Amino acid sequence: MNITLVVAASDNNVIGKDNQLLWHLPKDMRFFKNTTWGLPILMGRKTFESLGNKVLPGRLNLILSNQKNIKTNGATLVHSLQDAVNLATKQDYKQLMVIGGGQIYELALPSAHTIMLTRVHTTIEGDAFFPALNEDWVKKESTFYNSDEKHSYSFDIECWQRK
Ligand SMILES: NC(=O)c1ccc[n+]([C@@H]2O[C@H](COP(=O)([O-])OP(=O)(O)OC[C@H]3O[C@@H](n4cnc5c(N)ncnc54)[C@H](OP(=O)(O)O)[C@@H]3O)[C@@H](O)[C@H]2O)c1
Repeated sequence: MNITLVVAASDNNVIGKDNQLLWHLPKDMRFFKNTTWGLPILMGRKTFESLGNKVLPGRLNLILSNQKNIKTNGATLVHSLQDAVNLATKQDYKQLMVIGGGQIYELALPSAHTIMLTRVHTTIEGDAFFPALNEDWVKKESTFYNSDEKHSYSFDIECWQRK
């Protein structure tokens, strides 16, 4: 199973505050949709809450929680990363997309092969973070997007691979 993290983080690795995103970047949202479409996505219970407890269409939604009785509205509840990998494997998927938030990135990073990192060019305050990448990781691709009337910040969409 190829475990891929998909994340948008500021220059200082902030990914959210008060269980919300800190930017609206339509081009990045389109990239996220295209990258995850048709694939299993794993998210933490808090991120699911931040989406209004609604599943993202066209993808197998896996919610990670220690709780047994949360309302998932059609998503599948899992209790460990291994559960998620097993479930995806059983359904013949070759890739698991880990879509946050901070706790789940931290948990999945040691098992990840690929990171699709949108680096949002701002230094901003928040309470959820993407872990700093160490020398195990190498940047393979990067595409720059300038700020404009619809994008408050410029950003790079980067592909990182484990060495
Ligand atoms: N910028 C981005 O790309 C991006 C992407 C996603 C989310 N976000 C942001 O990230 C923030 C949320 O991140 P977060 O770190 O607060 O929460 P989170 O990672 O979304 O969810 C945390 C929850 O996941 C469950 N969990 C964590 N580790 C577990 C384990 N080992 N086994 C079972 N369950 C486990 C727990 O649920 P229970 O408490 O139910 O047990 C925990 O409370 C929000 O601000 C959101 O907007 C940003």
